[in-house]
Amino acid sequence: MAITREQAQKRLEELRRLIEEHNYRYFVLDAPIISDQEFDELMRELLELEAKFPELVTPDSPSQRVGGAPRPEFATVRHRQPLLSLANAFSPEELRDFDRRVRELVGGAVDYVVEPKIDGLSVALVYVDGVFTTGATRGDGEVGEDVTANLRTVRALPLRLKRPVARLEVRGEVYMPKAAFARLNKAREEAGEPVFANPRNAAAGSLRQLDPKVTASRTLGLFVYQVLYTEEPEPATQMEALDYLAGLGFPVNPYRLHCRHAGEVLEVVEEWTTEKRAALPYEIDGLVIKVNSVALQRVLGATAKSPRWAVAYKFPAEQAITRVLDIIVRVGRTGVLTPTALLEPVRLAGSTVSRASLHNEDIIREKNVRIGDTVIIQKAGDVIPEVVKVLPERRTGEEKEFHLPERCPVCGSRVIREEGETAHRCSGGLACPAQVKERIIHFASRSAMDIQGLGPAIVSQLLDAGLIADAGDLYYLKVEDLLPLERFAQQSAQNLIAAIAASKNKGLERLLFALGIRHVGERAARTLARHFRSLDRLREASFEELTTLPDIGPKIAASIKAFFEEPRNLEVLEKLRRAGVRMEAEAESETPGPLAGKTFVLTGTLPNLTRQEATDLIVRAGGKVAGSVSRRTDYVVVGDNPGSKYDKARELGIPLLDEEGLRKLLEGRE
Ligand code: IVH
Repeated sequence: MAITREQAQKRLEELRRLIEEHNYRYFVLDAPIISDQEFDELMRELLELEAKFPELVTPDSPSQRVGGAPRPEFATVRHRQPLLSLANAFSPEELRDFDRRVRELVGGAVDYVVEPKIDGLSVALVYVDGVFTTGATRGDGEVGEDVTANLRTVRALPLRLKRPVARLEVRGEVYMPKAAFARLNKAREEAGEPVFANPRNAAAGSLRQLDPKVTASRTLGLFVYQVLYTEEPEPATQMEALDYLAGLGFPVNPYRLHCRHAGEVLEVVEEWTTEKRAALPYEIDGLVIKVNSVALQRVLGATAKSPRWAVAYKFPAEQAITRVLDIIVRVGRTGVLTPTALLEPVRLAGSTVSRASLHNEDIIREKNVRIGDTVIIQKAGDVIPEVVKVLPERRTGEEKEFHLPERCPVCGSRVIREEGETAHRCSGGLACPAQVKERIIHFASRSAMDIQGLGPAIVSQLLDAGLIADAGDLYYLKVEDLLPLERFAQQSAQNLIAAIAASKNKGLERLLFALGIRHVGERAARTLARHFRSLDRLREASFEELTTLPDIGPKIAASIKAFFEEPRNLEVLEKLRRAGVRMEAEAESETPGPLAGKTFVLTGTLPNLTRQEATDLIVRAGGKVAGSVSRRTDYVVVGDNPGSKYDKARELGIPLLDEEGLRKLLEGRE
């Protein structure tokens, strides 16, 4: 039955409202109430209807989040009022000076708000009648770049406010979460692309893309912290402004704190510098201290560059000095040669560091790192140690320059550097044992086929014994094959064979990721699995069909086509198929999952799962994930550096789970 334009219009409005509501619950409140599948279903219906009635597509439609057409350059936007930057304070003394100046100027006591200083890039967002219309980078403060299309792809950004304010302008910070940053750089390293130095550069590089699809493929977050202009009555204090923004549907950082005087501010600063900072899933480089009263902010005014009512307290960088003992080279899954510095072990930001990635030869040249050098290291994005700089004054003349080898250290094939790539790559392909090995390790890894007990050491053993030559061979191993090998006894051999057999049913999404198709990460694998639902259909897809999908650009599409043209890959796929490895997506089940009716709260960093992955698993199993702990919470999942949710859970006596415990529940083992 054909649907009329009026009916379509009505349903589209409803779908947009529903999708944005669920999007808000997921990305802003961190508390989804429907599964990914249900969400995808709504989205699919919306896209189909909009395809039938293209004239009904609106700028606030969630379909616009996948990224529109690329553009030749950015338009510029003049900000209504200059976007100022902040003066810095580097010590408690400098904070006291700031407070003293403020109190002198206003002639009395002042209360403050302390907020985390998000290390991202500043954006100004304009809403007209409640609809997001323009977003710009800060630029030089007066004029920025129009990145509206890219900002629409940031899922936490509301495309429509909860109320239609006639005109509203706000300021906030776009950032890249630490986990997304680590994943992105790893993928770029493998792809021979230059890595980003820190999450801030990665966020800026992702937002300032002429092709919004590239932005859409990156994980970006947003916090909004300032009302630049509103046609509604203005909030009287910064605390109220933050509540006002949250009430309109903006993501507002939960760690805002009201301090009655400078003494309290200093206590908060101390707490953050020592503990809280490392626990956040995103990078902060300090705290921002703001005079709470907007009336007093007006009295204090601004200098040409920065307001007198606010200051940025910068954390001391966590750095250490050590020596480069050697530089070694690792050959990765796609043949990329990654140089790694072996360091004299040193304590840094809560752990002992003994190696640092040097990423590629350009970076070694740029930083001029030599074997034997004394260097300053720090953790980029608080996780991956990196060499900041060499201390040349400590050189003795004994230091040795380093060059990547011309031949692969593993197979001896020629090392090549393709035009436009930063990576050096072994040209041996599947003839290179290192690449074969890394591929199989990747295939078996936790986020791929998750074959328990099949780590790097065992993979090496199986390859050396000639028992396997590719991932397909794993499924033909027998207990008797393993028994003669060192480290294997009857039980362990049986366990491994059982784990391999169990992996046959992991589903299409994991299989696609496990195959190690260049540029196909977990996110692209998920998109492909959901769209094509079978390996055969994916194999038949045209380049054009592939590129219509969100997250799939021409580079990924070309790589997928190339993968299916390579006879060796087809051989492996055939082995997998004959062994009974499932190559279809699971049918959407109607039966309630093992976690049906249970509410979970997540806190801290889990060893192997991002927050989003954990949430996905729980919701897919029928559970709910809430943003805060209450008596109605059934379980709290606790990772490293948990926050106050952990204390609250203990106080209320709510059962605690670690990642392993969560997996047990998911698998119905408990
Ligand atoms: S307030 C006029 N609050 O830090 C006041 N800024 O070094 C404007 N930033 O350019 C800034 N988190 O990009 C403010 N909670 C926060 C912030 C924040 C990060 C950035 C912002 C600004 C820079 C100043």
